[in-house]
Amino acid sequence: MSGHAASAPTPIRLCFVCLGNICRSPIAEGVFGELVRRRGLHARFVVASAGTGDWHVGHPADRRAIAAAAARGIDLRAHRARQFRVDDFARFDVVVAMDRSNHAVLQRLARRLPTPADLRLFMPYVDAAARGESLDVPDPYYGGPEDFERVLDLCESGCAGLLDALLAERRL
Ligand code: 4NP
Repeated sequence: MSGHAASAPTPIRLCFVCLGNICRSPIAEGVFGELVRRRGLHARFVVASAGTGDWHVGHPADRRAIAAAAARGIDLRAHRARQFRVDDFARFDVVVAMDRSNHAVLQRLARRLPTPADLRLFMPYVDAAARGESLDVPDPYYGGPEDFERVLDLCESGCAGLLDALLAERRL
């Protein structure tokens, strides 16, 4: 057997989580997916997203998120919102919360698990200059187009930082 397929590393399964799964986490999923495609690393990652809330389950991404992402070459039209469930901790290797409030909800859920989850906050991966003091990707739902632009900016920086960190951790 040729060594090629046999030596392919197991993909890292990544899930971004926000509240509604119609704005921030679908944007992060789209940005990360585009980044790994551009770098030729898409076979090494499985990327998904979910929300801690259930209000928008089955809905497409927010139209403002779709528009802001499309302007940067990222297509979110196929996205449908889903709610994060405790068994997602087993389906994903790394769960990344878009803000502290959702991180806290996930941390509480993770207490039910027999083994510790790899649960992280997104903001520490954003370039320090772009991040400022905040540890939260601000919820743009009640905001305007500029708030969606800000989410895209934070996601572009944070996804690049997260990818570098994962590659370094896994020695890929
Ligand atoms: P997201 O934004 O968490 O970034 O998807 C929100 C979407 C919907 C609601 C809140 C935040 N909502 O309250 O319905």
